[in-house]
Amino acid sequence: MTPFGIRKRLKGLMGDAAKPDVTSYELVFVLPDGSEQKVKTEARYTLAMASQFLPSPIATGCPDGQCGQCVVEVLDGTGIAAISDSERKVMDKWHKTPDPKRRLACHARVEGSGARVRVFSLFDYDSVRGT
Ligand code: FES
Repeated sequence: MTPFGIRKRLKGLMGDAAKPDVTSYELVFVLPDGSEQKVKTEARYTLAMASQFLPSPIATGCPDGQCGQCVVEVLDGTGIAAISDSERKVMDKWHKTPDPKRRLACHARVEGSGARVRVFSLFDYDSVRGT
């Protein structure tokens, strides 16, 4: 028993969030050069987070999901959560022509296997290194 029952109190506050969800799903990214890359990612990761398993991740432009730069095309939406109100607001702001296949990689969450996603822009490590 810890002093003041701190473990029990924390567990009560955290509920199921204290248990990590380690379910993994597979999806395919179609890269700008046309090649395809299958990745395994964890449940509830966004497409941007899942792209960390690519040689270069999806290019993002902001830390708070407001810039609209990380747009991707969902070729098969199997296993991708429905668009949220906050994602729709950002899409409406930056992408005037509505296209239901276009999603924001930093908002769209992975909920299952089977998605195919076309990536338009990858992070350019060389531009950061100055090479
Ligand atoms: S990185 Fe800015 S909206 Fe996704």
